[in-house]
Amino acid sequence: MADAEGNKIAKEYHLDTPVAANGFYVKGMNHTGWGMKNRFSKLFNPKTGNTVMLAFDHGYIMGATAGLERLDLAIDPLVEQVDVLMGTRGALRSCINPITNKGICLRATHDSSVLFDDMSTGVGFGLDMEDALRMNADCIAMQCFVGGAGEARSLEVLCRAVDAGEKYGVPVMAVTAVGKEMARTNQYFMLATRMLAELGAHTIKTYYCEGFEKIVAACPVPIVIAGGKKVPELDALEMAYRGISDGARGVDMGRNIFQSESPIGMATAIGKIVHEQYTAKEAYELFLDIKNSVSKD
Ligand code: R5P
Repeated sequence: MADAEGNKIAKEYHLDTPVAANGFYVKGMNHTGWGMKNRFSKLFNPKTGNTVMLAFDHGYIMGATAGLERLDLAIDPLVEQVDVLMGTRGALRSCINPITNKGICLRATHDSSVLFDDMSTGVGFGLDMEDALRMNADCIAMQCFVGGAGEARSLEVLCRAVDAGEKYGVPVMAVTAVGKEMARTNQYFMLATRMLAELGAHTIKTYYCEGFEKIVAACPVPIVIAGGKKVPELDALEMAYRGISDGARGVDMGRNIFQSESPIGMATAIGKIVHEQYTAKEAYELFLDIKNSVSKD
């Protein structure tokens, strides 16, 4: 039984210190619950508000992808350089060391494979939210096909994922999927990002484009930019720099990291842009230093 007598008297009420307002640092998330905020703190670095996500979920539509032939070998060396690991539950369970303290963004849709012209036709919710909790996911990622033949189904799947996310306190990242037939215009991304946020997505992954600062301004939740196909390292760093300068809260990048001549160099350089305001040129010089020092070893 608890002691009722002999306890120290409570007296340190700090009456001259106002209680903190507890405003939350992630855009649009001030009115969510504690669990969701805690998960957000694993996704977006509380010191900078930004994130570097390493995407290695390509196999769920592309099969074995260049640079990811052996997930067990490809990802482990990069984990320390990034904030969040984005993968499928199959990849995480089989190939990623569970002692990691990194945020986990779990791929949660199944979509048509790259064999189909319109990937939107095969979209569905690929897991149960309880399994996402068993995986200790900090976020689930939903591919969303605004403008595709499967748009209605895709948005229905997103809405059910948001219901589950709200129920369990798990943020939902909506990914604007651009099919082969869709133009990557700023009008398209303005439409898609705003729609997905209004349908309840807690954060959005989309492509960088001209006029990006307006897309960010019109989106009530944080946007992270997608990487896309492999391009020269300086080009990828410039895209990341422009995205962050225009208000993106991070980068979710795959092929431009793991298909680089120096994946560790790229992951490190991207982190400097995202968290330490490096310019693209400064980050590229760092990339070259790392690449050259490793090749001399
Ligand atoms: C994007 O829509 C998917 O999540 C991809 O599987 C992945 O994130 C793409 O990464 P990246 O385009 O940077 O290789």
